[in-house]
Amino acid sequence: MLNEARKRLIFALDVDSFDKAQAWVELLREQVGLFKVGKQLFTRCGPQVVEMIRELGSDVFLDLKYHDIPNTVAKAGVEACRLGVGMFNVHALGGLEMMQQTVAEVDAWCRDAGQTRPLMLAVTILTSSTEETLRGVGIDRPVTEMVPKLAKLARDAGFDGVVASPQEVGLIREVCGDGFAIVTPGVRPAFASLDDQKRVTTPATAIAAGASHLVIGRPISAAVDPVEAARLILGEIADALNR
Ligand code: C5P
Repeated sequence: MLNEARKRLIFALDVDSFDKAQAWVELLREQVGLFKVGKQLFTRCGPQVVEMIRELGSDVFLDLKYHDIPNTVAKAGVEACRLGVGMFNVHALGGLEMMQQTVAEVDAWCRDAGQTRPLMLAVTILTSSTEETLRGVGIDRPVTEMVPKLAKLARDAGFDGVVASPQEVGLIREVCGDGFAIVTPGVRPAFASLDDQKRVTTPATAIAAGASHLVIGRPISAAVDPVEAARLILGEIADALNR
């Protein structure tokens, strides 16, 4: 069960140098299934950082959230496949055609290369966005309506899952069914919550609600003993999977 839990734990490599990224991968690769490389690290270090993680035997979630004209996103998706990442993402707000063309070109490239297709994820609404943010860009709909709508659009385009806040997992499961990946950041393990009264989504709650993967950064990186923190999180995930 711990191995099953490990596949679901994604560590956010939110650092600004190749050496720091490498040190985290070497430290945590036994506990963590995938390492998330986002815009900061990728802009600083480029594809070499992805290659380093793969050479150390770990898998990569390339979190670059592509959003552009369909042709550009499709070609970027193919390059993510060429790098051998296990997961990459786009913004569902880029629309159905953008996502469909990306699926088509990625599928064709992976078939020709004899490579397994990476898990293709769509960001619905960023967890930092509120209804006010949406109104500011002319979207006069509640977040709770936009999130399942965009998740369904991604599924209809042939995507494998979405990135969403733990609070939205139930809504997404309802419209997208089982087997659709739901990757949730913003999770705080039970041990990291200083105040029992504070409402936090723990790994166990997120998994029980239907999350398939958890993105966790600071609760591990800022812990006094990061390996122990990752182990405790794996235990929480494994317990939730056993229930
Ligand atoms: O907060 P933490 O360090 O665990 O964040 C890990 C990753 O998840 C970060 O890369 C951050 O951008 C993302 N995140 C998010 N939504 C949140 C909290 C964190 O997308 N509410």
